[in-house]
Amino acid sequence: MLDILQLALAALALSSAGSASPHTVALTSRSIPKGHIPALRRRGLSAVDVPLEDYFSGTDLQWYGNISVGTPPQNVSVVFDTGSSALEFASTQCGSACANQTLFDPSQSSTFISSGKNTTLYFETGVGVTPVIPQNCWLEVVSAEDTISIGGLTAPNVSLFTIVNQSVSFDVDPFSGIQGMSTTGQGFFTGLISQGLPALFGMYLTPRAVGNAELTIGGYDDTKFQGNVTYSNIVAKAEGSWQLPSSGIYVNNQTASILQQPLPIIFDSGTSNILFDTNITEAMYALISPDIQPYANEPGAYGIACSAIANLSATIAVTFTSQDGGRYNLTIPSSELNVGAFADNSSHCQTLINAYDGVRILGGSLLKQYYSVWDISNQRLGFGSNQELRGRLRW
Ligand SMILES: *[C@@H]1O[C@H](CO)[C@@H](O)[C@H](O)[C@H]1NC(C)=O
Ligand SMILES: *[C@@H]1O[C@H](CO)[C@@H](O)[C@H](O)[C@H]1NC(C)=O
Ligand SMILES: *[C@@H]1O[C@H](CO)[C@@H](O)[C@H](O)[C@H]1NC(C)=O
Ligand SMILES: *[C@@H]1O[C@H](CO)[C@@H](O)[C@H](O)[C@H]1NC(C)=O
Ligand SMILES: *[C@@H]1O[C@H](CO)[C@@H](O)[C@H](O)[C@H]1NC(C)=O
Ligand SMILES: *[C@@H]1O[C@H](CO)[C@@H](O)[C@H](O)[C@H]1NC(C)=O
Ligand SMILES: *[C@@H]1O[C@H](CO)[C@@H](O)[C@H](O)[C@H]1NC(C)=O
Ligand SMILES: *[C@@H]1O[C@H](CO)[C@@H](O)[C@H](O)[C@H]1NC(C)=O
Ligand SMILES: *[C@@H]1O[C@H](CO)[C@@H](O)[C@H](O)[C@H]1NC(C)=O
Ligand SMILES: *[C@@H]1O[C@H](CO)[C@@H](O)[C@H](O)[C@H]1NC(C)=O
Ligand SMILES: *[C@@H]1O[C@H](CO)[C@@H](O)[C@H](O)[C@H]1NC(C)=O
Ligand SMILES: *[C@@H]1O[C@H](CO)[C@@H](O)[C@H](O)[C@H]1NC(C)=O
Repeated sequence: MLDILQLALAALALSSAGSASPHTVALTSRSIPKGHIPALRRRGLSAVDVPLEDYFSGTDLQWYGNISVGTPPQNVSVVFDTGSSALEFASTQCGSACANQTLFDPSQSSTFISSGKNTTLYFETGVGVTPVIPQNCWLEVVSAEDTISIGGLTAPNVSLFTIVNQSVSFDVDPFSGIQGMSTTGQGFFTGLISQGLPALFGMYLTPRAVGNAELTIGGYDDTKFQGNVTYSNIVAKAEGSWQLPSSGIYVNNQTASILQQPLPIIFDSGTSNILFDTNITEAMYALISPDIQPYANEPGAYGIACSAIANLSATIAVTFTSQDGGRYNLTIPSSELNVGAFADNSSHCQTLINAYDGVRILGGSLLKQYYSVWDISNQRLGFGSNQELRGRLRW
């Protein structure tokens, strides 16, 4: 989920084309896995692995896991969302609008401290694949503090929000809330970092068919990829937002002049689809099929008859520059093109790219092709290749 704050920061970010004489970095090597960074072992707390569940509806939408809140602990589940910047979950103060969620009861926690301030948080992308109409995706929240535990690590007095009302777009999901995982570290992460936990996390966001999705807090899990992690520095002026400058986009090995311009792109684990400006979106679809057309009932969404989608080639490669100046592609296979049928026409299928002027996001559809390392200390984002994940895909 991309919150409004990150959208504003994204707009400030400047692009950069990378080095003048780049070399190529392959993300597909099969070498012996390297260990965790030894320096991490000397710090206060060590890394923990947290199992994640996949919210699947037509496609893989979000990955969520359990945290416990308060004293005695109550369990709630949250999406670990690199596109937003706060911790919030549904509380018993939320009425019928939170009917589908497990609710946290503040009155049962001896460590709960409410500040009583109501705020509304707005999101630019929501839970599903259909584009969000501005102001249509919101949470009404009250600020508070309480103890949070995750994977056996505990942080006291964590700043959080309890959800007291929400737009209908948030009630369909099976999780109670969202833990923002932006580049500054929020919620329980702030508390754990102050206790000495290394300021990085690893994400293994897998397709439903693979399962075993996992978040590693305070490190990364080197059993989940082969070879080295390829890192890129995040865009410096996009504080909060995990943004890398890309130098070009290819679709089915082809490109166009509008696709060969420097473009900062946000990596958002809480958004499923990919989003680009309308002109870039249409240039990409032009390289896939002229039959993919805007869907009038869902502005920003595109679709094609479901019967025509299975055999389309739609390999998308986006080029980035690594810390050592080499170029590499992150790729999305053809099998991601179909994100499921539209609610109002089960014969018409939505396609992966949504048009949204001024917003460029690579979401779960890309992240689930790689192991990703989100390094807050060094303000860089890294990718490791997993042959098992990629070997089973249709390119
Ligand atoms: C979360 O906890 C519940 C029980 O409290 C359990 O059924 C569920 O599998 C857990 N989810 C994950 C992702 O570990
Ligand atoms: C909360 O989750 C933890 C870990 O999944 C589990 O051990 C514990 O029993 C759960 N507590 C409740 C009240 O469900
Ligand atoms: C603020 O949240 C409380 C729940 O804590 C709710 O009862 C109240 O109606 C909200 N106030 C406004 C102005 O929406
Ligand atoms: C948490 O906040 C409360 C109230 O401000 C304070 O009394 C308590 O000492 C704090 N606990 C920790 C561990 O900081
Ligand atoms: C929740 O928000 C909806 C939409 O704004 C509003 O109609 C409803 O009255 C609110 N519910 C509560 C309990 O405030
Ligand atoms: C709960 O979610 C289901 C879909 O999973 C939806 O049909 C239903 O309307 C939701 N309930 C409420 C009260 O919104
Ligand atoms: C991984 O990094 C190490 C140390 O920089 C290097 O020696 C090794 O060749 C790299 N392996 C691959 C497959 O690139
Ligand atoms: C793209 O190029 C690669 C390598 O040359 C090739 O294996 C693949 O089939 C090409 N894909 C398409 C859709 O042309
Ligand atoms: C990225 O992919 C495109 C299209 O397949 C290819 O032409 C280009 O050489 C690749 N770039 C790198 C650095 O691998
Ligand atoms: C539903 O989609 C199919 C396949 O694209 C199309 O042939 C049909 O006209 C659509 N139905 C309506 C009511 O739009
Ligand atoms: C189209 O895809 C289906 C299954 O995805 C496959 O069985 C069929 O052979 C394909 N047809 C062509 C012409 O590639
Ligand atoms: C594409 O559209 C954006 C608005 O979203 C605009 O700023 C940009 O100039 C357009 N690019 C080209 C090459 O037309």
